[in-house]
Order: sequence, then structure tokens, then C-alpha cells
Amino acid sequence: MSRRPLIVDCDPGQDDAVALLLAFAAPEEFDLLGITAVAGNVPLALTESNARRIRDLGGRPEVPVYAGCPRPMVREPVTAERIHGATGIDGADLPEPVRPAEAAHAVDFLVETLLSAPEPVTLATLGPLTNVALAIVKNPAVLANLHEIVAMGGAIGTGNVTASAEFNIFADPHAAHVVFEAGAPLTMIGLDVTHQAIATPPRLEAIRALGTAPAAAVCGMLDLYGAKNMAAYHHGAPLHDPCVIAWLLQPDLFEGREMRVDIDIADGPCFGRTVCDVRGRSGRPANARVLERLDADGFFALLTERLARLPAGA
Ligand code: RIB
Ligand code: CA
Repeated sequence: MSRRPLIVDCDPGQDDAVALLLAFAAPEEFDLLGITAVAGNVPLALTESNARRIRDLGGRPEVPVYAGCPRPMVREPVTAERIHGATGIDGADLPEPVRPAEAAHAVDFLVETLLSAPEPVTLATLGPLTNVALAIVKNPAVLANLHEIVAMGGAIGTGNVTASAEFNIFADPHAAHVVFEAGAPLTMIGLDVTHQAIATPPRLEAIRALGTAPAAAVCGMLDLYGAKNMAAYHHGAPLHDPCVIAWLLQPDLFEGREMRVDIDIADGPCFGRTVCDVRGRSGRPANARVLERLDADGFFALLTERLARLPAGA
């Protein structure tokens, strides 16, 4: 089986960090072309340096990291330190990154790579969609070489940052509108699925038992992230972003269906909501595959087995 050309756009964030480690642990499945960082959970300076720290922890210093957009397209910036802590990856005490980010802007990297890649590229997005939207606006020809976009974001049901909106969409709904209207094959992995991926104590203990540096960092992060989520949402640590990589590795863990999704960009209580036309009432063609169900035990078995493949570290 040929390796899937992949770019991961992220805003680390503890769950982004686990998703990156899962991607690093799949060198036979992914040709990881680069990581692009975007402002989201914490400001860009932290998301890009966090991405580089996780790259080192995963034993993949050769994967280039690009810093992208420091703010959303239109709305005022919002962040999520109350969930992720001041560093964005509180709970993982990681050393300074071994090498700097690349000089190119992430949007330019996305445009140039998508225009020149010999095979269509998959884009896994784990944060607000600002980088991706601006790449599409800057040069729509990139869409011709996009295999698919797999985006953690949105919800059929209620939100997590407001009653209606999920954070990645709420943080830049105008960017999400551009991406959902672009016509690229799109899989939306929203809260309906990711709130089934809860890192319960037994699941965390199975990871901790690996006894490696990556496993210790993951458990340190998820212990803290879980406590913050428990306080905020009465869930344990929901592994939102790793679901994106798990979908690419083992799609039979998930179930979903095609449907029309519109992004509410009007001021008001539904600002940033993904309006999912579950019953086809809009009469408009589907623009996304929306995942709804997850085999959670299978997901954690995959995650734990793959984390065990990473370099044990110091
Ligand atoms: O709503 C969850 C999403 O927002 C995740 O990607 C998390 O990392 C934050 O970015
Ligand atoms: Ca994220």
C-alpha cells in the first residue's frame, strides 16, 4: 500500500499533541510532508513551538514545522488556556525544540506543496481553519491536488465553547465557511464523535504502563487536560484531535453519513455553529461526511499500540 501524503494543521493543545504522536507512529502509512501551526488554543508563538517540542518527543526531527496565521480572518481572537493551561500543553514538561520552525509561512507552504505534490495530499486539521482557508483563497488551484480534508470541528448537537459552537469553528467561523464551501472532499469529526473518545483512568493506565517518555508525556498532559475538562464539561479528557488520525488509519472504527453542513456566521447565540442537515431538509447537496459513532475501545487499542512504537526516549 502506498504511503498517504499528509499535512497536519494544528494548535497544540494536549489533544493535538497526542494526535501528532499518533501520526508520527505511522511512518508506513503516512508520508508526513509537514506540520503547520495556527493560533487557537493558545497564541501562535506557543502552538508552533509546542508542535516542534512534540515533533522531538516523537523522534521525528526531520518533519518541517511552519508557523501560520496568528489570528482569525475576521472575528476577534479567542483562546482556551482555561482548558489547556498557559503553555497549551501543560502537564508535559518538554525541553526546548532542537531546531527552529521553517522560514516560510504555513499558508505559502500549503499553497506551494499542494500545487507541486506529485500525488494528491490529505490535509488533517486539528485547530481553527484559518491557514487552510487562506491557502484556498490565495490560490484556489490547490483544491485540484487535495485528496481530502479531515477536520476536527463542529458538532451535530451542542457546542463546547458556547451552547451552539465547537471551539475550532467558533475561533474562526469565516475560515470554516470558506473551507466547507470550497468543494473539496471533507470529513467532519465533531463533538458527537470525539466525546465518545474519553481517556478514562483504565485507558490512561494502559498508556502509562508502556513506561516510555512519550507515554509519560501523554499521561501527564491528559491527567491535567482531563481534570480541566471534568471541571468544565463533566467529561474526562476527550481525545478530539487523535480521532482525525485514527480515522485515516482505521476508518472502520467510525460510522457517519454524507450531509449538508452550513457554518453560521451571523452574530447571535448560534455564531460559529455547524448547522448539520441530518434530515436533508435544505434540499442542498451534501458537502461533508459527518462522523457520528466511534468504537472507543478499538480507538484506544489503536492509540496505545501505536504509542508503544515511538522511541522510548530518555
Ligand atoms: O473543540 C475541541 C478542539 O478545540 C480541539 O481541536 C482542541 O485542541 C481545540 O483546538
Ligand atoms: Ca486542536
